[in-house]
Amino acid sequence: MIRIGLLTSGGDCQALNAAMRGVAKGLLNSKEDVELYGFLDGYKGLIYGNYKMLQFSDFSGILTKGGTILGSSRCPFKTMRDPDENGLDKVEAMKHNYHKLNLTCLVILGGNGTHKTANLLREEGLNIVTLPKTIDNDLWGTDMTFGFQSAVDIATQCIDQIHTTAASHGRVFIVEVMGHKVGFLTLNAGMAGGADIILIPEIPYDIDKVIDAIKKRTERGSRFTILAVAEGAISKEAAKMSKKEYKKYMEDYKYPSVSYEIADQILKKTGMEVRVTVPGHTQRGGSPDPYDRVFASRLGAEAARLILEGKYGYMVGYVNREIVRVPLEDVAGKLKMVDPDSSIVREAKMLGISFGD
Ligand code: F6P
Repeated sequence: MIRIGLLTSGGDCQALNAAMRGVAKGLLNSKEDVELYGFLDGYKGLIYGNYKMLQFSDFSGILTKGGTILGSSRCPFKTMRDPDENGLDKVEAMKHNYHKLNLTCLVILGGNGTHKTANLLREEGLNIVTLPKTIDNDLWGTDMTFGFQSAVDIATQCIDQIHTTAASHGRVFIVEVMGHKVGFLTLNAGMAGGADIILIPEIPYDIDKVIDAIKKRTERGSRFTILAVAEGAISKEAAKMSKKEYKKYMEDYKYPSVSYEIADQILKKTGMEVRVTVPGHTQRGGSPDPYDRVFASRLGAEAARLILEGKYGYMVGYVNREIVRVPLEDVAGKLKMVDPDSSIVREAKMLGISFGD
């Protein structure tokens, strides 16, 4: 008998259900007797023993369904070792619930923070297999995370929609794209949507260079300019600050986000009309696109294969177009970022896209 726990942790994204379906189908189609337990709301469910037994039917019809059938929550890694408000040792509680159900393995779907805790549980002796989810695509050890392509589609569609209205009114438009502290989503959606300026955290911007790029477009007869700005974009001045200085700077910060600051600076320095659009969590919502459905299903199937082979302590990743097994200790605690010298950035610059650098 194989007894598997499943949980989805951190911010949700598209194709979580598709990935779990891949794991479940891979196991249930094997010759093994399988029991599946779903922990509710991420690590919370594992800590407090909130779970449900899952049947084959639970995985039917969810390939295209967004969100997660198990629910998710953020349980920060840095507080995992702290007792909860009732003095409960969370790590011990997770181990206890794992052993109480006599689990063979726990399959954890998550991003960066989730992987730190997954690795901690591995170090504590639990059998763990993980799957890389996040619209940010910032997980080390895999070229791609599921959710990313679907989010690129949504952010691109947003830029497409903005194009027509920007052209009609001859305005400067900023579309603020998610991605936390990395720029993969903004870079890809920006290029796909034909943005003129792309600002990402990995390439701190100089506002005067941004304005020069806008002016150059105006001089060439363009009536509008579109900026794709990562929510984590940072100016050259702010990037140079020490941690302490940056903390103070953020305490006094008067804008809802960096896009509004950039909009204000463009307005003040050029008098041009600027509008900001923030698609926000829509980028994580709705059905996974076909790419993510296939991709997450493949990752899920490989997770099932690992379990059937009795191999644990791996994240199933994707490197050079191949599904691979990456040791969890290599993944945990590392951030994958856009390389400012990568060919995609060079090619974007060849197309005339300004990065404000
Ligand atoms: O990590 C995914 C993500 O959507 C980031 O792009 C974003 O910064 C963050 O989560 C938003 O988190 P929350 O849903 O907790 O507001």
